[in-house]
Order: sequence, then structure tokens, then C-alpha cells
Amino acid sequence: MSEHQDHAVADPTPGSGMNTASPSGECVALSAQPCVPCEIGVQESQSLVASLKHRVISGFLRSPYLMLRSWRWSFWLLRECLYDFNRVRRYSSAVHFGDGAEKLKVLLTMAYHSLEKGMSLRNPRPGFGQQHARTLVARLDRYLTCCGVDEHCAVSFNVLRAYAEFNRAKGVSLPWLDRHLEEFEKRIADACAGLHPGGVKPMTKNQFLTAAKRDLTGFFESRCSVRQYSPEPVTVQDIERAVRLAQKTPSVCNRQSARVWLLNQPQDVRDALSIQGGARGFAEEIGTVLVVTSDLAAFQSSGERNQCWIDGGLFAMSLIYALHSLGLVSCSLNWSKSRQTDLQFKERFGVPHAESIILLLSVGNPAESFSVAQSWRKPLSEVLRTISHK
Ligand SMILES: Cc1cc2nc3c(=O)[nH]c(=O)nc-3n(C[C@H](O)[C@H](O)[C@H](O)COP(=O)(O)O)c2cc1C
Repeated sequence: MSEHQDHAVADPTPGSGMNTASPSGECVALSAQPCVPCEIGVQESQSLVASLKHRVISGFLRSPYLMLRSWRWSFWLLRECLYDFNRVRRYSSAVHFGDGAEKLKVLLTMAYHSLEKGMSLRNPRPGFGQQHARTLVARLDRYLTCCGVDEHCAVSFNVLRAYAEFNRAKGVSLPWLDRHLEEFEKRIADACAGLHPGGVKPMTKNQFLTAAKRDLTGFFESRCSVRQYSPEPVTVQDIERAVRLAQKTPSVCNRQSARVWLLNQPQDVRDALSIQGGARGFAEEIGTVLVVTSDLAAFQSSGERNQCWIDGGLFAMSLIYALHSLGLVSCSLNWSKSRQTDLQFKERFGVPHAESIILLLSVGNPAESFSVAQSWRKPLSEVLRTISHK
């Protein structure tokens, strides 16, 4: 079986008790493998030296076959990790800072976000964050020169205005900022008219509760992965609506790395599903596939090397719920893929190498009647734990 064939083969953890995929993609029944029960605990609890010692000693005791296999799988793992490493090094700002429009947008967002966030606190200190404001002024200037006027500079400009007004109201005058605002006004104010205001918006508890508080138990409990669809096609308008709703997903510093690629041409859908391989038995019914990705340009430091999976995953979940709220059904299709498959997909569909594919989603209208897997959930006590300090 190839790695494409079923999402159940995505977990290669020894001892998981499932069928698992070898790095080359073959499926191996773990029950047929000799068990190495103590190894995980040893790795986690011992120092590196002790763990290496243990590995060398136990390595001699193990059969050469097991050792060879473990080296081979380690090599495959290392190759995949190097692929991830190279992508983060090349496309995020962990090493190369501020090159390209996308990275400049992120820099603008980070700078205006710190001012908006500051102003949204209970008692912001008058005059706070002037260094961030100066950074935002410099970045906005650079952005205007490199990329021209668009929504990104409109928001930044509006946040600077809101920040100046906030300080004025608190009796703090910032003449250096007023001078820059005057200049920006001449360059971009017309283009910014009517665009999204920046700063903070006031809210009452009543407004919040009226909009938010309702019993959504039925909504949550009826969401399920559906693998049968009606032949009625999904409209582009519905997809646009769902994506707009999903855009409310939180993201680190509001950097909004998530992207969605819509595939609705039969040949594209067939090719995407054949490369993905996890929709066997229902691929023929699928008319729409969404590819959720996360742009590495949004991430800054080595500490953020995994952030694309988090922000992209959160966005994907919102998108699934948004589709659900529109009466559409969907099924997540994993992207736990090798470097080779990732490259094959990106080349076929022109998905930029800077984007990490989070998952694919098959989307459809519900059939008149259909079955779904029961998909039992663990008891609450296994999931929710209270930390009690003695
Ligand atoms: C990231 C991810 C990848 C998945 N990949 C597949 C897949 O390739 N094929 C498939 O049929 N289902 C896939 N699923 C669906 C899961 O099997 C399903 O969510 C899980 O069994 C729980 O069932 P439910 O969604 O109906 O509640 C995936 C789900 C997630 C979240």
C-alpha cells in the first residue's frame, strides 16, 4: 500500500498498535514487528549521553536487520526534516528578513498590531509604544515605495492615526508622528478613504452576548466527516462565504498566513485526489477540493518554525465549521506527505513553494440520506485534566 492510499497509514510511530507506513511508503503491520517497549521512555527521560549509550548497547543486542531498518528509517526521516528546514530557511524570515512584498506586509502587520493590542488593554499607558510607532512609520514608508498603496498601508495609516488620537486624548503630543501623518496623508489618504479603520472598537457585554451566546451543541455535534455527496455542485459563492467566515480565525499577531486554493474542474479534482490518495472509495463523488495552506513568509524566527501548522490548522478548522454552517459537508484529507509528494502536488497545481500544505478538504452538498462513521470520542476525563498543586 502506498502512503497515498489511506490516512490511517500516516502515523509511523512504533508501538502505536496501528498499521503504519514505512518512510518509503510501504505499509507494515506493527504487530509483526518486534516490540521495543522501553525505548520511548528511555529517550524522554535520559540525558543525550545516557540515551546514546543505551542505544549503542541495545543496538548490539538487536538483530542487524532491526538496526539496519532503524538507520534506513532515520535517514528517510532526516531527509524529510531537511526538506522542512530548507523551506523554513528559504521562505520564512528566520534567516532572510524583509525580502519580498509578502514579508513586508507581515512586518507592517506586526508593527500595527502591537499598537492596536496596546490600545485595547484596560489602562494603556499614555505615550506607550513609541518605538513600535516609529517602526511602523519606517515600514509604511518602505512599503509605499516598494509596493504602492493598498489595504495594507491603509490599515497601517489608520492605526497610526488612531494611536495619535489616543495620545492626544490623554494629553500626550507626538509632533514627530503628526509630521509623518501629514506626509502620509498627502500620499495615501484619498486611496484609504472608506477602507478598514484601525485602532480599537468599543464593545458592550450586551452586544457581545447578543452576537455570540447561543446553544451551538447541535451545530458542533452534527459536524462529521462526510464521504458521500449529492451530484449538485458547490457554488463558488458558497466557498467565498465560507472562506470569509474562516478569515476571522485568530492568527499569531494577526499575520493571517492561511491561503485557500479552490479546485473545481473535474480533471484538477481527480489529479489532486489521486496524489493525495486518502479519498479511496469516494473520490468519484467529489466535485470540489479546497487546499488549505499557510505562507511561511508570515513567520519570523527559528522559534516560529512550526507556527505555520498551528495557524494553518486553526484556519482549516474554522473553514470546516464555516462550510458546515452553510449546509455543506466536507472531509479533511491529510497532507502527511513526503517531500516528493509535496513537490509533485505543488508543481501540478502551481502552489508556491513558500506555502506549507495543511490539508485538503473535499466539499459537497449533502445527499438525501447518507451514513457517516460513528467516530467515538474519548471520555472527558481523558482529555480534560486539572493541574492540582500540592
Ligand atoms: C488532518 C486530518 C486529516 C484527515 N485525513 C483523512 C483522509 O485522508 N481520508 C479520510 O477519509 N478522512 C480523513 N480525515 C477524517 C478523519 O478520519 C475524521 O476527522 C475522524 O475520524 C473523526 O471523525 P469525524 O470528522 O466524522 O468526527 C482526516 C481528518 C483530519 C483532521
